[in-house]
Amino acid sequence: MITNTSLEYKGDLYPSKIVSFEHEGDSIFFNTDNKVILKVTILRDSLIRFRFTTKGYFSNDFSYAIDKTQLHGYNFLELTEEETYFQIRTSKVKCKIQKADLRLSIYDLNDLLILEDELGFHWEESYEYGGNIVKMSKSSKDGECFYGLGDKATQMNLKGKRLENFATDQYAYQKDQEPLYKVVPFYIGLHNKQSYGIFFDNTFRTFFDFCQERRNVSSFWAEGGEMNYYFIYGPQMQDVVTTYTDLTGKPELPPLWVLGYHQCKWSYYPESKVKEITSKFRELKIPCDAIYLDIDYMEGFRCFTWNKNYFPDPKRMVAELAEDGFKTIVIIDPGIKIDKDYWVYQEALEKDYFCKRADGPYMKGKVWPGECNFPDYTNPVVREWWAGLFKELISDIGVKGVWNDMNEPAVMEVPNKTFPMDVRHVYDGNPCSHRKAHNIYGTQMARATYHGVKRFTYPKRPFVITRSAYSGAQRYTSSWTGDNVATWEHLWIANIQVQRMSISGMGFTGSDIGGFAEQPTGELYARWIQLGVFHPFCRTHSSGDHGNQEPWAFDEEVINITRKFVSLRYQLLPYLYTMFWQYIEEGIPMLKPLVYYDQEDTQTHYRNDEFIFGNQILVCPILEPNAVGRRMYIPRGEWYNYWTNEFSTGGREVWIDTKFDEIPVFVKAGAIIPKYPVQQYVGELEFDELTLDLYFKNGKEKSVVYEDAQDGYDYKKGRYSFLSFRTIGKEKELIVQLHKEGKYHTPYSKYKINLIGLPFKVTEIEIDNEKIAFDKIAFEENHFLIVDKEFSELHISGE
Ligand code: NOJ
Repeated sequence: MITNTSLEYKGDLYPSKIVSFEHEGDSIFFNTDNKVILKVTILRDSLIRFRFTTKGYFSNDFSYAIDKTQLHGYNFLELTEEETYFQIRTSKVKCKIQKADLRLSIYDLNDLLILEDELGFHWEESYEYGGNIVKMSKSSKDGECFYGLGDKATQMNLKGKRLENFATDQYAYQKDQEPLYKVVPFYIGLHNKQSYGIFFDNTFRTFFDFCQERRNVSSFWAEGGEMNYYFIYGPQMQDVVTTYTDLTGKPELPPLWVLGYHQCKWSYYPESKVKEITSKFRELKIPCDAIYLDIDYMEGFRCFTWNKNYFPDPKRMVAELAEDGFKTIVIIDPGIKIDKDYWVYQEALEKDYFCKRADGPYMKGKVWPGECNFPDYTNPVVREWWAGLFKELISDIGVKGVWNDMNEPAVMEVPNKTFPMDVRHVYDGNPCSHRKAHNIYGTQMARATYHGVKRFTYPKRPFVITRSAYSGAQRYTSSWTGDNVATWEHLWIANIQVQRMSISGMGFTGSDIGGFAEQPTGELYARWIQLGVFHPFCRTHSSGDHGNQEPWAFDEEVINITRKFVSLRYQLLPYLYTMFWQYIEEGIPMLKPLVYYDQEDTQTHYRNDEFIFGNQILVCPILEPNAVGRRMYIPRGEWYNYWTNEFSTGGREVWIDTKFDEIPVFVKAGAIIPKYPVQQYVGELEFDELTLDLYFKNGKEKSVVYEDAQDGYDYKKGRYSFLSFRTIGKEKELIVQLHKEGKYHTPYSKYKINLIGLPFKVTEIEIDNEKIAFDKIAFEENHFLIVDKEFSELHISGE
């Protein structure tokens, strides 16, 4: 319900003039003569928080989104007072605050205007609920573009759109449909080659308008709570995203098997069906690491129970699947069946852990099991209890991961599809109604699940996936884009959604490959898997009521394409793992939309389809039926066609021919791409060689490879291996320098270096300044060489 979206509305109230200010440490308070206070906090030189109150004082400062383990600090802070404004200066930006009305403008140190208030902060009192509807409007610059906001089903560039954040179970959503499952009130603005970010940390229903209502105005507002936002200065989009990700947190490394392929359906049962599916993967040699049990594994959809007719001995089954390399993942929903004979229900009832309506009764709503009550995950005691419930599933039965669903929270057969807004929540000691807690309910559930799964999986690493999430959820969980549809349009949507999640801090995401609702043609399924293997999370899932969606539900050609692309993903596992490492260490998104990759090139500003996978692979899916190729934009720089090794220069739009078993994939010149042999599941094979595909470039390039024990926490004690390669290519020379860090000894002893695009005939090879006779090393003229992994400089020259 949009209560009031018009910025001209008569009831809008504005701050009046500044009458005093106080400077306390990293914060400055500006007091006006109508009780509005603006608190400006300098977290870093390029990260400033703006918090407004209209009451004359601030309420308790509490956020679920902010990562409290992050350290902040600035190098320089200066406050000066001029006749009409105050100026705050850091080593990166200047911020002016008008004395007359608290309007802000932010400049870089060359006085280029980055962001400027239009009306600035204003509000409307909420007669019905109390508190305010808080609003902010900014003047938009010519040519300004907008990105971010999580999994919106629309174009990458959000200019001209109005978007809404209210976690919603949106079955079979359509392009442009709003709102969806996740809430990430963070966007990136780009103009004059400068990027900045805004994170509006407010869990009420929020709206963002990017020049839709008025051509030169962007605005955001919330139906309650505080106007509380963070400004992030770039100027590179990379800096904005990294800073936002630092602020809201990063996940732990998943075990490597989680980056393998996952197979899911609603639902695989009984046990014989599950085994039939897993055996078929092995028989057809399509790699797969995880198999999912959807709601039908439970007894009457009661969480933490098993249907013993379908699964008479879950522990044995899970162990047998594990012997074949399959990890079992089960679904757990928030709705707890109202059933006095059901232990989870009894416990929660006895301990008074369920959410209540404003007047006292328990919140009751229908989900799969019928009438349910719902734990209040915003209560830390409830989260602790919930975590403990996973003991049997994980420790005893051996389940390896948990899938949280329906946690928007979704309620069936009611008009608003969720809780009534009067439902009360503990909100970690800041009691509130569902209006405020709705958008973080799913995150708090996933958080409790994560702690439970981790507790019982330890010393191995946990895996959790959620449907609903708020900013910061990435610290606990991966996610998927919900109930999509088996259509070409949805393939287009999935491509953008996953890229957008990536630059919205929540990169560990994928879509239901093939589409959840309805049934894909073989061609659509093949095109989807070709894209899906380049998504951080890679899982086929379908509702099952429109037919089967295993690779063998389609013809031989589709099976072969699936095998080819899933195998490619398994070869690229060390590359994927490295990009995950860079995400958790440095906040670098795993997928990079072209505008993120090269914001200075205006050609990238409206591109949707092409993206960079990791740092050095360019991918462009085929999104239409009967395609024999497509037009695509190759970003600036030099690239090799992955399939043909043909060299091309970027900065132009080109037509690329593709066969049905290919999509356009390019590798950056100079890159070293690490590869493992194809395994049917992670850890299946022991191998003595790491393959390094080296793409020659006349010039320099850096590549890195991160490895560790693939599970467990030894990596936190320095037991990892981090390889930094530097390639230097010249007309008749190639130098590869290798620097190693970390205490982990990789099990292989050699590198097989594939030489791609070498423009000269090799006549001499030196390893660490020692000339090597060709017959002393495995060397296939101009194709590959096999070297001991202990080298630090390789010198290849020729004529
Ligand atoms: C809705 C989820 O989005 C879907 O993935 C799942 O299969 C069904 N619920 C049944 O649990």
